[in-house]
Amino acid sequence: MNAQNTAILAYGPAAIAEAARLILAGQPVAMPTETVYGLAADATNGEAVARIYEAKGRPSFNPLIVHVRDLAQATEIAAFDDDARALAELYWPGPLTLVLPLRDDAPIASLVTAGLPTVALRVPAHPAMQALLAAADRPLAAPSANASGRISPTRAEHVLASLGGRIPLIVDAGQTAHGLESTIVALTGGPPRLLRPGPVDLGLTVATDGRIEAPGQLRSHYAPDKPLRLNASDAGPDEWLIGFGPVAGDATLSPSGNLIEAAAKLFEMLHEAEAAPVPKIAIAPIPEAGLGAAINDRLRRAAAPR
Ligand code: TXA
Ligand code: MG
Repeated sequence: MNAQNTAILAYGPAAIAEAARLILAGQPVAMPTETVYGLAADATNGEAVARIYEAKGRPSFNPLIVHVRDLAQATEIAAFDDDARALAELYWPGPLTLVLPLRDDAPIASLVTAGLPTVALRVPAHPAMQALLAAADRPLAAPSANASGRISPTRAEHVLASLGGRIPLIVDAGQTAHGLESTIVALTGGPPRLLRPGPVDLGLTVATDGRIEAPGQLRSHYAPDKPLRLNASDAGPDEWLIGFGPVAGDATLSPSGNLIEAAAKLFEMLHEAEAAPVPKIAIAPIPEAGLGAAINDRLRRAAAPR
């Protein structure tokens, strides 16, 4: 990605106005929360979410936490049963993330959930993040604002050291209160499962099946239910071809070969290919540079024998 100037603005009305402007323009912005600094982007805009991955240099797509204003906005995105509602009412706003079934009509880009039928949601308690959620008036996907493989940032200086030159703005509100990422609990059927311990202690121990819930780690995670052939320049008679750049295909990730656009469309295209009336899927070559590495990581998992 191109080097750019990273502005640091102290939290206040001017910083929030500039952050909201950038969010609505599809850019990622580093924001303080009560846990750690997050790299926020418009969760309804797949290309904005792709820019989070580009900035972090993450070599794979993991589902991201969606930050919302309140429980009412959360219920537009996920299905809440009585247990989920009770936990949300007790702990929101605050450092508890709930993984819940994604609603069919949720206005969330598929890259946010990495194509999963569940979504991680929380209502942050920090006034800066709350102000941005109100000003931008949309849900914000936000992983921790560090480059891939680096520790989570608890000060604006940590964000600058890790992502300086890669993002347009850091909103600085000093040191975060908890300094530790939110507790993650899954309520997707059966008893609640603790996926990540954190500031909220519900008396649960980490689920032994937690790895299944942390999907990036499974080699054949969320693979389509059809064989997938990589690096295809044309389709066999029984294949649905996903194109890229010069390979047109039955549908294309990006006619112009733009990796941001391709990342944003990847999971939609895999779902579409899975639903197509032919038994196999083929996909055009994707360059390994930049976001292409994360796209290829997911495609290799999808193509892995299982
Ligand atoms: O405190 C926090 O939670 C911070 C601040 C910025 O809010 N955010 C954060 O996000 O830690 P991130 O992306 O670094 O961590 C997200 C975690 C990952 O471990 C991911 O696997 C899990 O949430 N996750 C997200 N969606 C999930 C889903 N649908 N199912 C299971 N796990 C999910
Ligand atoms: Mg993180």
